[in-house]
Amino acid sequence: MMRSIWYEQGGAAEDVLQLGENDLPEPREGEVRVRVAYSAVNPFDIKKRTNGRDLATWQRIVPHTDGSGEIDKVGAGIVDRRVGQRVWLFGAQVGQAQGSCAEYCVVPSWKAIDLPDGVALEHGACLGIPFVTALESLSAAGLLEGKTVLVSGGAGRVGAYAVQIAKLQGARVIATASKSKCADVEQLGADACVDYRDPDLELRLRSYAGKHGFDLVVEPRFGNNVAMNARILARKGVIAAYGVDDDSAPTMPVARLVTKNASCRFVGIFGLSRTNLQTHFERVHELAGDRKLRHRIGLEASLAETPQIHQKVQDGSVEGAALIRLSEAQ
Ligand SMILES: NC(=O)c1ccc[n+]([C@@H]2O[C@H](COP(=O)([O-])OP(=O)(O)OC[C@H]3O[C@@H](n4cnc5c(N)ncnc54)[C@H](OP(=O)(O)O)[C@@H]3O)[C@@H](O)[C@H]2O)c1
Repeated sequence: MMRSIWYEQGGAAEDVLQLGENDLPEPREGEVRVRVAYSAVNPFDIKKRTNGRDLATWQRIVPHTDGSGEIDKVGAGIVDRRVGQRVWLFGAQVGQAQGSCAEYCVVPSWKAIDLPDGVALEHGACLGIPFVTALESLSAAGLLEGKTVLVSGGAGRVGAYAVQIAKLQGARVIATASKSKCADVEQLGADACVDYRDPDLELRLRSYAGKHGFDLVVEPRFGNNVAMNARILARKGVIAAYGVDDDSAPTMPVARLVTKNASCRFVGIFGLSRTNLQTHFERVHELAGDRKLRHRIGLEASLAETPQIHQKVQDGSVEGAALIRLSEAQ
C-alpha cells in the first residue's frame, strides 16, 4: 500500500482533497514506477482541481504533474538499468488520473527524465512546467543573442527561469515584478526590474529598451498587458503569452501589431509534440546540469499539509516552488 492525496469532485482544496491509502500501482508496458521524493504544486494543478475537469474521464484524481524521485520498477520494454535512476517528472497527471502527489507514481518512461548528477531532488521537482514553459516561450523569437527581452512577472515560477535562461542565451533582460521582489529578480540576472504597478511603468520600460523596443516579451498576463506590450514592442517583435488572466478574450490592439509586423505566440506546453518536448528536456539537462541556475523553493510541506499548500499557491502567496515531501532518504 502507499499514501496519496486524491479528489473525487472539483472544488476548494480543503473540501475535496483527501489523504488516504491506495494499492501500489504497477508499471505496464512502456512505463516506469517512481518512488516520489517531492511533488510540486503548480497553478495548472490548482485549476484542474478547482474545475474538476479530469473527473469527466476518471473517477479519482491523484493531483500534480511535476515532481522528482527514483525509479524503483520498470514495465515490459523498458531497460532494467533505469531502475535506481534519479528522475524529474514532466506531465505526470496529464493523460492519466495518477499524478505525483503519492508515495509512488507510474508514468510513461519518457516522462521520467534523468536528473543530472549533482542536482538535488528538490530542485528536480522545480523544473517540469516552469522550466519547459520558460524554454518554449523564449524560443518564440529565435536566437536571443543581443536581443532585448522583457520578462513580465520575472519573480514567478516561470518568470524566474525565463530571466536566467534568457541571460545565459545572451539577451539583455528587463523584467517586471512586484516592487518588493525586484531586487531578487535583479539578483537572478535581470539587467533591470521595474514594479509592474508603477504608474510610469511604460515610460521606464521604454527607457531601458530604447527606440528599438523589445524583441520579445514573455508574458503571464496577456490580456492585462497586451495594449502596453504592443506599444513597446520592436518591429517584428514577438509576445510569447503563456498565461491567460481573468479576461481570456481581451481587446487586441490589432492596428499597432500589424504596423509593427508583430506576432503573438500562445504557449501551451501540454500541446507540444514529443520531439519538441524532448529538445527542451535536453536543454534542461544541459543548463541544470551545469548548475548555472538558481532554483527557487518557496516552501516544503508534508503530504498531510497538501490542502493548505494548494490554497497558498491559489492565493499567489508562495514565491517559488511549492513542494510536498514524500520520501527523503533517496
Ligand atoms: N500555458 C502554459 O503552458 C503554462 C505553463 C505554466 C504556467 N502557466 C500559467 O501561467 C501563469 C503563471 O504561472 P507561474 O507558475 O509562473 O505563477 P506564479 O509563480 O504565481 O507567477 C506569476 C507572476 O505573475 C506576476 N504578475 C501578476 N500580475 C502581473 C501583471 N499585471 N503584470 C506582470 N506580472 C504580473 C506575479 O508577480 P507578483 O507575485 O510579484 O505579484 C507573479 O510573479 C499561471 O496562470 C499558470 O497557470 C501556463
